[in-house]
Formats: sequence, structure tokens, C-alpha cells
Amino acid sequence: MKIIIGPASKELAEKVAELTNAEKIPVAYKTFPDGEAYVRLESSVQGEHAVIVQTTCAPQDSNLIQLAFLADAARRNGATKVTAVVPYLAYARQDKMFLQGENVSIETVGGMLASAGVNELITVNVHQASALAKFPFSARSLSAIPLLAEYFVSKGMRKAFVLSPDKGALHIAQQAQLVLGGGCGHLEKQRDRYTGKTSQTGKGLDVKGESVIIFDDIISTGGTIVGAAKILRELGAAHVYTACVHPLLIGDAEKRILDAGVEEIVGTDSVPSGASKVSLAPLISKELKALKSG
Ligand code: R5P
Repeated sequence: MKIIIGPASKELAEKVAELTNAEKIPVAYKTFPDGEAYVRLESSVQGEHAVIVQTTCAPQDSNLIQLAFLADAARRNGATKVTAVVPYLAYARQDKMFLQGENVSIETVGGMLASAGVNELITVNVHQASALAKFPFSARSLSAIPLLAEYFVSKGMRKAFVLSPDKGALHIAQQAQLVLGGGCGHLEKQRDRYTGKTSQTGKGLDVKGESVIIFDDIISTGGTIVGAAKILRELGAAHVYTACVHPLLIGDAEKRILDAGVEEIVGTDSVPSGASKVSLAPLISKELKALKSG
């Protein structure tokens, strides 16, 4: 097994290679003056199982095309199997036709990667794991929630109350609760499919005086967490923190969340950011070691 160091996940890929005890394949890459991408594997993958570690956060389309080009390069240069490790899988939220006339973006991405030469995909906390079942190759999603919860345990926050900002993410909060050992609950969130605007309510939640950690898969604009923090304050929570797997943190999201009274934002390095305090390297390398020995 050799690890191809995807340009979008350099640091994480290096850590994964070290923990997996696998050789690294450096990548030369550039963007041509007209905007087109170029990649080249800098050492041989002939006869090897090639594992590309490349996230697909913003700029999503460039990172996706680099991933596809790397898979093609690995195939053409003799790799026997190509596994894409994509810590943040772009376009996963458009996993069905919500409105007439739409496409299903995540399925388009799966088809594109298959034709580029990917045989297997490993991602982390994909928005809906069921979307991966439609991929034309084996694809699975690991969970980084226990690692995030352990971060809070290491900060002395065992028994903190875990909150999911909507019912759909309750399974995430429940995984965190298993590690933290305190209470767990969820808000109700509604989204207008035309305007994208959301509204939340916290009916029946008892968090008075509690330290609460809001767990979600993604923080994008921060609107969901700002709304949740406001409700928690109204309900008398003593301290509010937030954790997410994918800290996209678009624009001034981080500032808005902190201004809303959230004391700390904790994310993973699936998306390199100031909030990436928990590395996915141990989780990914454990999975790759199992593949190696399997
Ligand atoms: C949506 O269902 C996701 O789980 C997140 O709650 C959402 O993507 C967060 O978006 P934002 O930070 O823009 O509110």
C-alpha cells in the first residue's frame, strides 16, 4: 500500500502515511494560466494498492478534479487498486431530488470518480450514509464523533449535555453521548427549500445550568449553530460549545458563532481550518491497516 499525498489534504495525508507505516507518493501539481489543473505522481505505484488522501472542501470542483486526475494517474501508472480517502465528500447534501428538475449531485460525483479509476472510497461522516449505496464501487463512511467527544472528555467535560441541532443529526449526538455519558437531546429544524432559510425550536429541552455541546456533521455558514446557541441561552444553559466533523466555516461563520456566546468551536482536519483541533489520522490509518491485513 502506498499513500498518494493529495494537495488538498497534505498534512493529514502525511500523518496517515506515518501512522499506517506506508510509503508516501508526493504529487507535483499546478494550475495552468487558463485555470486547468495538472497533477503528476512523483514516484512509482506500479503493482501497488494506491490510496489517495484528498479532501473535497472548497474549492470543491478543483479538489474533485485533482482527485479524479490522481486516480487516473494511479491507474495508468500500474496501481492494482485505487482507494480514495475523501475526508469531506463534497456535494453529499444534494443526495436526492428535493425539487423537480434537480440532479442528484452525490451520485454524479460517484459516477465521475468511478470512471476516473477509483475502486473504493472511504469518507468520514458523510451527510447520509445511504447515498453511498448508490456508488458504482464500494464506499463507506467512518465516524469521527467518538474522537470529537474524547476531545471534550480530555478537557474535563465528561457528563456534558449533548445536543443535535435537528432530529436528523440525533444519531451523531447519541454517539457522542456514549463517550461523554451525560444527557442528550435535539432541536427541531425546518428548512425552506426555496430560500434555504431555517428555523429551530427547543420544545421540551431541559438544559438549565448545563454545559451543552452542540454536535453536527457540518458547520457551513454557522446559521444552524447560532440559532441553536440562542435557544440554549434562552433555556438557561450555563456554557455552550460546538463540535462538528467538517468545519467549512464559510465567511465570518466563526465570529458569528463566538459572538452568539459559543465558547469553543471544535472540528476535525477533514477541512483544514482554525477549528481543526482533532485529527482524523488515527481513524483513517486504523481503517487502512485493516485493509492491509485483510
Ligand atoms: C444540515 O442538515 C447539516 O447537518 C448542517 O446542519 C448544515 O449543513 C449546517 O449549515 P449552516 O452552518 O450553514 O447552518
